[in-house]
Amino acid sequence: MVQGIANWNTGQTQEWLQQYVDDWVAFYRKHTSDGEVASYIPVLQQADPDDLGISIIGKSGMTVRSGDTEIPFTLQSISKVISFIVACMERGVSYMLNRVDVEPSGEAFNSIMHLEMHQVEKPFNPLINAGAITVSSILPGKTSDHRLEPIYLLLEQILGYRPELNVEVYESERDSSMRNRAIGYYLLETGFLESDLNVTLETYFKQCSIEVTIDDLARIGMVLANDGMDTKTGEEIIPRQIARIAKVLMLTCGMYDASGKFATYVGIPAKSGVSGGIVAAVPPRVREETMPFTDGCGIGVYGPALGDKGNSIAGIRLLRHIANQWDFSIF
Ligand code: DON
Repeated sequence: MVQGIANWNTGQTQEWLQQYVDDWVAFYRKHTSDGEVASYIPVLQQADPDDLGISIIGKSGMTVRSGDTEIPFTLQSISKVISFIVACMERGVSYMLNRVDVEPSGEAFNSIMHLEMHQVEKPFNPLINAGAITVSSILPGKTSDHRLEPIYLLLEQILGYRPELNVEVYESERDSSMRNRAIGYYLLETGFLESDLNVTLETYFKQCSIEVTIDDLARIGMVLANDGMDTKTGEEIIPRQIARIAKVLMLTCGMYDASGKFATYVGIPAKSGVSGGIVAAVPPRVREETMPFTDGCGIGVYGPALGDKGNSIAGIRLLRHIANQWDFSIF
C-alpha cells in the first residue's frame, strides 16, 4: 500500500487520485474478515462480507470511486439523519428539539436500558433507535406511506431520482424486530410517541429499507457538507440551520458508542447503517490547499462486514486512512 503523506501538490487529476484510492480499497478489503454481516435482520445476512466500495464526490463534480461501487443496499440507520431533517423541515427545529435531545447516549443503537435508567425527559438523540422511532411518530401523515413521502421527495431532490423501498428487507425487519417493538412500547408508555405505534414502526422499518448506492450517499454527504445547498444549482435543499444540526448529531452520535473514537481518528460528520453503509460530509477547509477536495466532498462507503459497535469495520478503517492522508478532519 502507498504509505506516508504524498506531495499532493504535484497534480491532483482524477486518474492520479484514483490510483491511490484503488490501492487503499484493495488493502482495506482484507480487513473485512475482522467483521461480520448483520444477522438480526435475516435478509441482511445475504450480503457478501468481502464487499468494500467507496465513492467520493467533490464540489466541482470530480468523482473518485473504487471497489464494489454498484451494489445497492438499504439506508438502515442512515435514514435517521434524513427523517430528522425532514421532521425539522415539516415541524420546525424547536418543536423537534423539545421532543428529542441532542446528547450522545454512549450506549448501543438499540439500547432500551438508558431510557429507563436515566428517567430522561426525551430520548437522548434522534440517531439512536429510541430517538428515531420518536421522530417517525412526529412525521406528519396518517399512514406510513404519507409519512415517508417527504423523505422520498427530499431524497429525490438530492439524488436526481426517486429511490425505492426494498420490500424484502422491510418485511424481514418488520417480522423480526422485537427489540424495536419493545422500544416502541416503552416510548408509548412514557408518552414520548406522538402517534399510533404500529404506523410509527411501519414508517421506521420502511425508511430503513430505502435502497441506495454509494454514489447516492456521497451526494447526500455533499449537500450536507455544503450546509444544505445543491452545489450544481445553488439551490437550498435543506435549510442551513437544520443541515448544521444534522452534522453535529452525525459527529457526536453517528457511530453510536464509537462516536468519540471516530471523531478523534477520522474527525468528520458521518453516519453508519447496519447494512454496511456510511455517509460522510467533509466541509470545505482552508488550511491545506495542497490536498485534494479542499472545496469539500461527500463520501459514501459500503462494507457490510461490521465491527462490534455495528459500523462497517473496513469502511471505518478506510475512511480513517483517507481522512488522514487528505487531511479531512474538521478539527
Ligand atoms: O433499527 C434497526 O435495527 C435497523 N433498522 C437500523 C439499525 C442500524 O442501522 C444501526 N446502525 N448501525
